Amino acid sequence: MSQVQIAQKEPYAVTIEAGKKYAWCACGRSAKQPYCDGAHKGTNILPVLFEAESSETVYLCGCKHTKGHPFCDGSHNQLP
Ligand code: FES
Repeated sequence: MSQVQIAQKEPYAVTIEAGKKYAWCACGRSAKQPYCDGAHKGTNILPVLFEAESSETVYLCGCKHTKGHPFCDGSHNQLP
């Protein structure tokens, strides 16, 4: 099993656009945080695809430990 890496211990505030599709980096290895750049290759971790329902600012998880992916659920506060 590959481990997720912590990209940063706080969420990324990003603006998403209604109807657009996004791929949230779940492995923590992407250089284009919080989005996937293909760096998960060789791990068994896949990005989380989602489509924006409305245009808004959202907080995407940066620590990769959220249980509500792709969004921050506060889990970063429990990390050592
Ligand atoms: S940044 Fe991961 S839960 Fe907040």
